[in-house]
Amino acid sequence: MLALYTLKVLIICMESGGDMLSDSGGEEAGAEEEHVELFTTPAAKLGAAASDFGYNLFRALASREAATNVFLAPVSVTAALTQLAMGGSERAQRQLYRIHNTLKDLLASVRAPGKGLSTAARIYLSRRLRLKQEFFTLVEQQYGVRPKTLQGGTKDLKEINDWVAQETGGKVQSLLTKPLPRNTGVNTVSGAYFKGKWVTRFGQNGVMENFQVEGGAPVRVPMMQQDNYPVKMGADSDLSCTIAQIQMQDDVSMFVFLPDDVTTNMTVLEESLTAEFVQDLSMTLLPAQVFLTLPVLRLSYSTDLQPLLGDLGLSDWLADPDLENISTQPAKLGSVNHKVVMETAPEGNQYPSVAASPAHLSYRVDRPFLYLIRDEASGALLFIGRVVNPKDLAI
Ligand SMILES: *[C@@H]1O[C@H](CO)[C@@H](O)[C@H](O)[C@H]1NC(C)=O
Ligand SMILES: *[C@@H]1O[C@H](CO)[C@@H](O)[C@H](O)[C@H]1NC(C)=O
Repeated sequence: MLALYTLKVLIICMESGGDMLSDSGGEEAGAEEEHVELFTTPAAKLGAAASDFGYNLFRALASREAATNVFLAPVSVTAALTQLAMGGSERAQRQLYRIHNTLKDLLASVRAPGKGLSTAARIYLSRRLRLKQEFFTLVEQQYGVRPKTLQGGTKDLKEINDWVAQETGGKVQSLLTKPLPRNTGVNTVSGAYFKGKWVTRFGQNGVMENFQVEGGAPVRVPMMQQDNYPVKMGADSDLSCTIAQIQMQDDVSMFVFLPDDVTTNMTVLEESLTAEFVQDLSMTLLPAQVFLTLPVLRLSYSTDLQPLLGDLGLSDWLADPDLENISTQPAKLGSVNHKVVMETAPEGNQYPSVAASPAHLSYRVDRPFLYLIRDEASGALLFIGRVVNPKDLAI
């Protein structure tokens, strides 16, 4: 039953109306019904569910790491945790089977080469657990990646880091900086690299400009710039920010949320982020041609998300994850290692239209902001981040 709870957080929207889950969460199941009109196909529901899990995780991370740069690639974390969920009790598994094909399809579709996302997600298990081989086979069949047994020590470290690097085209290096904890049975590793390609190219790249930081002198950072750049835009007075949606290739978009003031406290904005909110928002933004200025992003970020799962209401599950189909012995989740790397480049496959006059509007991302990368076809949240100081970012 406890394992069921984690599945619920990850994939509740799969069950329209949530009747399969009603005994363990009637309240949420009722609330989910409001999504039904917005997300009608199984793929859209799955995209929304995975995204909401991502937004919740981001909120937990952003509030724990106040006033810092933070980043996540939710689809890759979800891939790791759903592999783990396959080791849960039989009832949980029966439900999982119903959505597995869709989840596999979603992961495959968001990893299409044109979208610029590569991910790696795998489970690592202590050899001291009496492991059930069926679990290894099952996960390999469903996800094409076999969980691994740890040998102990630095050999594991190298092997894990090499595997993640290989899966991400050499972009996510040194995911782990120290060996996995020896005493805890189950660990997940997920890495993601994103290099989105704009539809419309930027004429200028690397122009040094001021970026305001809270409570300090501005920092000089490289920016991309282009006049008459086509975006979709809107202002949200409740959230005191201006939003721009910038189109990327292969049906991917970047949404930038730029607070009106120079502040690192984006709590109100962070609290409002849900799949439904972003979907509604995307329908209200209006096309505009702007003078667009965007910091060149080149970042890497890694963290252990395990302590955050408690903030997501999973403390009971963490205490007793009930992974009966992984091992006959009680197994605990020791770490949920995650590392992301992201880069932007000025290239695009179209030139902006040559307008008779310069754009009247400008959208200048020169102070702390929040952004997300969304796959428009499925609505899946590929990447999310808060930038408070681009100067502190490094690969
Ligand atoms: C951030 O802003 C919210 C709402 O304005 C406020 O309640 C909260 O105390 C602020 N947090 C910090 C750390 O200043
Ligand atoms: C899960 O474990 C239970 C109990 O050990 C077993 O009866 C069941 O067949 C397993 N299910 C799968 C799909 O491996």
